[in-house]
Amino acid sequence: MNIIKVIAFNGSPKSEGNTYHALKIMQNEFEKEEIEVEIIQVGNKKIRGCLACNECVKSQDERCIIDDEVNGWIQKMKNADGIILGSPVHYAAIAGTMKSFLDRAFYVASVNGMIFRHKVGAPVVAVRRSGGLPTFNQLSNYLNYSEMMIPTSNYWNVIHGTSPGDALKDKEGKQIMRVLAKNMVYLMKLKKAGENEVEAPEQEKKEFMNFIR
Ligand SMILES: Cc1cc2nc3c(=O)[nH]c(=O)nc-3n(C[C@H](O)[C@H](O)[C@H](O)COP(=O)(O)O)c2cc1C
Repeated sequence: MNIIKVIAFNGSPKSEGNTYHALKIMQNEFEKEEIEVEIIQVGNKKIRGCLACNECVKSQDERCIIDDEVNGWIQKMKNADGIILGSPVHYAAIAGTMKSFLDRAFYVASVNGMIFRHKVGAPVVAVRRSGGLPTFNQLSNYLNYSEMMIPTSNYWNVIHGTSPGDALKDKEGKQIMRVLAKNMVYLMKLKKAGENEVEAPEQEKKEFMNFIR
């Protein structure tokens, strides 16, 4: 079987905080299956938000006009089989820097031929107390819009903790990450095995219907 590659993004400003630990738990499962995982920290970088300039629509070169790490990360996602979007909860939502990255990267991907279509993708959230589910839903929005395949766990993909490392005390949260990783591996393997057997559905040209008169 071909090599399976996973890229995971840590939206936390903390390099070894709870989001990182959730991703490491998943990485541990992937490595048992000899699946390569690269964890990239986004939350400590200077990433500004989308300018809504639509230059990426015109250029069709899979690039954002803002010249920073985002363009490299778009290509890393394009070359991966699986994508994990990890974020801590900040004000019951995705952490700001992570959102800036996601808006830009997923917009570029969608207007440049839906380049993440049919990749396997999962959202992962770290939270102290409340806001885990809205953040999980917000991360899922990028995957849903991109026609990606989303594996599930035995609960929503949220781990609890406040200070870095607290998440390792969340027994249920750790299991959620392990089960998610195992199901993600299974889905990626099924996809690889079926690639030459089952034809992907034709990609429909997107219909836009703006609700204006
Ligand atoms: C700016 C900011 C906002 C936060 N907002 C929330 C929140 O809305 N709900 C919550 O339960 N925890 C909130 N937290 C706590 C973090 O979600 C929690 O500590 C999490 O484990 C951090 O993950 P990390 O270590 O990967 O950064 C917030 C933390 C920060 C710094």
